[in-house]
Amino acid sequence: SLDVSSLTRQTGLTALDYGFVNTAATKSKITYIDGDEGILRYRGYPIEQLAAGSTYLEVAWLLIYGELPTADQLGEFDERIRRHTLLHEDLKRFFSALPHTAHPMSVISSALSALSTYYESGADPHDPEHVELTTIRLLAKLPVIAAYAHKKSLGQAFLYPDNKLSFVDNFLKLNFGNMAEDYEINPVLSTALDRLLILHADHEQNASTSTVRLVGSTGANLYASISAGINALSGPLHGGANEAVLEMLGRIQDSGEGVKRFVERVKNKEDGVKLMGFGHRVYKNYDPRAKLVKESATEVLQALGVKDPMLDLAMELEQLALEDDYFKERRLYPNVDFYTGVIYKAMGFPTRMFTVLFAIGRLPGWIAHWREMNLDPQNKIGRPQQLYIGEPERDLPQR
Ligand code: ACO
Repeated sequence: SLDVSSLTRQTGLTALDYGFVNTAATKSKITYIDGDEGILRYRGYPIEQLAAGSTYLEVAWLLIYGELPTADQLGEFDERIRRHTLLHEDLKRFFSALPHTAHPMSVISSALSALSTYYESGADPHDPEHVELTTIRLLAKLPVIAAYAHKKSLGQAFLYPDNKLSFVDNFLKLNFGNMAEDYEINPVLSTALDRLLILHADHEQNASTSTVRLVGSTGANLYASISAGINALSGPLHGGANEAVLEMLGRIQDSGEGVKRFVERVKNKEDGVKLMGFGHRVYKNYDPRAKLVKESATEVLQALGVKDPMLDLAMELEQLALEDDYFKERRLYPNVDFYTGVIYKAMGFPTRMFTVLFAIGRLPGWIAHWREMNLDPQNKIGRPQQLYIGEPERDLPQR
């Protein structure tokens, strides 16, 4: 690799790199990806092993602190997170100020900005003890905020967190429980959701993580940086793709145009239509997460006894695309978002909550990157260059 910053200083040359296809903005020890081989590892551990034998909280610890926790460390981490799930009562009024039609991604990013009004006034956002507390608060409160965004959209009452429950069960109860009856835990849902959160927990310098790092590089606090990351994640080319996939499948189903005709329209780039959930900037062979999500989709639907024609449609679409030269030549394969929507739907989440679930999964990764950057002595404010192509100097006309 080439250290372009020193080369730029020596030669005055600027590299133009739309979309940062070839620009490393940092060194990192957190996540390793080999896009050609379809490899993803968190802190050296293969994603397949973590998905099969770990939990979301253990993976969160691993990403943030660099090693697997001991049983005591994990127990204490879990306990601290449970103790911080409650939101300030005043923050609940914040939800009343928003329309029930608000997209939950806008609600959660705004709520995280609002959290900094409670916890950052007068604080040093880089004080190590404060960063520890903020880490716990974020992990504990984002799921609660997310569930309230969901309940708000339904016009239903917010439940208090039930801290006897595990992280995922508490979250599921806050979303699907109600005041009138006891919430029944479904281990199939809990295991599947925990696994999906692990698969989303980090992905090195993707657009939202790079946003968190860029905002954080200015000295901004964790809430502000992560709120910005959530906004970056909301776009359909990034996390918003899981929502877009289900909308696409729904449109194909409702229009009756058939999968073949839809694929033709994608290939002809009619109205810029894309096969959502396909393609990736880094994976040019296959996305290892997509394989695991596809397995989960079949298992979860079977275990829940749900028969969803959307899953069959997605599989048909995948098969057709994988056999087609357009997709082969461009090395386009299903990404993590292709099958997640089908699972979230089977769990009972509305489409607009899908990207919120991605955000909860990605939170430990964002925190780990913000922390790594702030401990890096080489860290400096992120500030890309541009090549100016506008007008040369000119004078205002005499008036
Ligand atoms: N459907 C149809 N064609 C596609 C798709 C797709 N999903 N993705 C890329 N292509 C085509 C492009 O049109 C382009 O074709 P061309 O050479 O004829 O112009 C070629 O493949 C290369 O694509 P780029 O857009 O240059 O690839 P890039 O790396 O910039 O984009 C991206 C990656 C944004 C993920 C893209 O594949 C895409 O838009 N996919 C659909 C949205 C999606 O699923 N996003 C989720 C990504 S994963 C995540 O964020 C968790």
